[in-house]
Amino acid sequence: MTASVIDIAGLYKTYDNGFSALADVNLAIDRGEIFALLGPNGAGKTTLINTVCGIVTPTAGTIHVNGHDALRDFRAARACIGLVPQELTVEPFAKVAATTKFSRGLFGKPRDDAHIERVLRDLSLWDKRDNSNRELSGGMKRRVMIAKALSHQPDVLFLDEPTAGVDVELRRSMWNVVRGLRDRGVTIVLTTHYLEEAELMADRIGVIRDGHIALVDDKTALMDKLGQKRLTVRLSTPLDRVPDRLADYDLALAGDGHALVYTYGRDGDAPVRALFDDLSRAGVAWSDVDTDQSSLEEIFVDLIGRTDDTESSP
Ligand SMILES: Nc1ncnc2c1ncn2[C@@H]1O[C@H](COP(=O)(O)OP(=O)(O)OP(=O)(O)O)[C@@H](O)[C@H]1O
Ligand SMILES: [Mg+2]
Repeated sequence: MTASVIDIAGLYKTYDNGFSALADVNLAIDRGEIFALLGPNGAGKTTLINTVCGIVTPTAGTIHVNGHDALRDFRAARACIGLVPQELTVEPFAKVAATTKFSRGLFGKPRDDAHIERVLRDLSLWDKRDNSNRELSGGMKRRVMIAKALSHQPDVLFLDEPTAGVDVELRRSMWNVVRGLRDRGVTIVLTTHYLEEAELMADRIGVIRDGHIALVDDKTALMDKLGQKRLTVRLSTPLDRVPDRLADYDLALAGDGHALVYTYGRDGDAPVRALFDDLSRAGVAWSDVDTDQSSLEEIFVDLIGRTDDTESSP
């Protein structure tokens, strides 16, 4: 028994029209983690999720879910998975509680009203349990999809863009729901275009691009490794240019010459102390300092941009 709940090896998907959407994807999802899969539109995120969930048949490769071969033993593998697809599909006339119970039945699980109630309460849908889906807002429909996906108590929950079109407040409450699920031992794999979401939620991050996994890393390691730090030094007297003595530092003037911004951190230890020594040698007086770090968003844009550079170079 390995620690990973999902094991994907040598996975390829070429669609009928000849388009190669996945090429040699190898990925292991650890039990109990929140894994965020990031990538631009068309990168292959949905294709990857759908192959694991048995909606798309891979061209080659293997997938194991809880040790079950997802291709040879589809039912056993699928029973361990809850899927909230990217496209909203709810039966308009079905009632919220009934549709959730029905989903559980599809997996052959015995009736468990207490579980259904817990799921609906967790998702703030209990008050809407007797409403039909067409009477719900878009955000509520998305939560009904999550309730259905959780109805059979899966070990792994796939959320394909769970918070697209969901307002800020609701997004926060969904994050809490997802964290609560993780705390109860559910493994979560989510895709998102909100980098802030991955930054807040994920234990690990995978970046997929053109059907290839470009990178998988712990979120904090990724941000430490690729993130840059910025030190803003507020000056007592404004400068009109960066003094020549400080030319070795990555410095820029900001705030009409009232601040110096020092960017560092990508390659090991920053010579912050040396900077301050050189500032006083250059006769630059300062009054305050401030630091911040690049967000995952900046890292991601940089990463995708750099991959572009590599591809376009001869
Ligand atoms: N049924 C299909 N037949 C042919 N090509 C397809 C099919 N489904 C998807 N593709 C192509 O495969 C690629 C990956 O699509 P996929 O939906 O997996 O991307 P994605 O990363 O989920 O994008 P998004 O962020 O927009 O949801 C795209 O180029 C898409 O056009
Ligand atoms: Mg998608």
